[in-house]
Amino acid sequence: MSAEELKAKFGITGVLDFVNEGELVKAVVSRDGMQAELFLQGATVTRWAPAGQRPVIFTSPKAIYAPGTAIRGGIPIIFPWFGPSRTNPKAPQHGFVRASPWKLESVSADKPGEVTMALSFGPSDPPSEFWPEPFHATYTVTFGKTLSVALAVQNKASHPVVFEEALHTYFEVSAVTDVSVSGLAGTTFIDKVDGATRKTEASNAVKLTGETDRVYLNTGRQLAIDDPAWKRRIRLEKDGAASTIVWNLWAEKAAAMRDMGDPAWRSFICVECGNAADNEVHLAANSEHLLSTLITVDAIA
Ligand code: BG6
Repeated sequence: MSAEELKAKFGITGVLDFVNEGELVKAVVSRDGMQAELFLQGATVTRWAPAGQRPVIFTSPKAIYAPGTAIRGGIPIIFPWFGPSRTNPKAPQHGFVRASPWKLESVSADKPGEVTMALSFGPSDPPSEFWPEPFHATYTVTFGKTLSVALAVQNKASHPVVFEEALHTYFEVSAVTDVSVSGLAGTTFIDKVDGATRKTEASNAVKLTGETDRVYLNTGRQLAIDDPAWKRRIRLEKDGAASTIVWNLWAEKAAAMRDMGDPAWRSFICVECGNAADNEVHLAANSEHLLSTLITVDAIA
């Protein structure tokens, strides 16, 4: 649907608008000082700033808004595999839904200060040349004082399917070198910048000092990113998500990436909630799996 058609069907004066950015269409949300944006491509949230606060979600100033190109930043939805496909080297990294159009199904602004948008993907048969399994996905986003994102995947095949998934959230921070992530101490992680070696996290305040690409396994529900310079703690509460991925590509790789560069890489940390590697999801026929994250911002001294 075009921006005009979406506006006619779902627009709410002063609260929800639809505009073009590059070659894509995005929803622009504004309610009681809260601001947010979501692209129909990939159902990608690219902005959320609670009233009176700095943005919490980071999107690269060099992001490319074109059909079939994953948006650099925001909350890309990774499905049905995480990283490269295990079976097909030609398949796109992180699956195909992040760079495909989603359908906006409904909008609700019934609750004060909140806007909820529900989007869907599939089923189509086959859903992708790289993935034969029929599925239906629903993504429900509630923008408000908190940000809630929930991905429900229904297996429409008549047999069990195995998949990986993640809500690949880029958080905006004062400086990636100055923030710390808590909630991971004692867990095992796959260190992808050290030959996929498995290690145990010793720290409850993980600080990044160079390129970082880690899949933490069997992690608990609660995580936090402490950002002392901005005097805030971003709290994550996840459900249906056994893995936590921590990523920043650092200077050299950022310089080589056409939609990142310097200094943008310094301003984000990815803390992704999902199910990857050992935590892949095994979903029975005609069953549903729900992955969700609730993001809250607290002031700290
Ligand atoms: C992370 C992966 O989640 O995403 C990294 O762990 C990957 O290995 C990164 O480089 C970014 O991926 P992409 O495809 O968006 O450049």
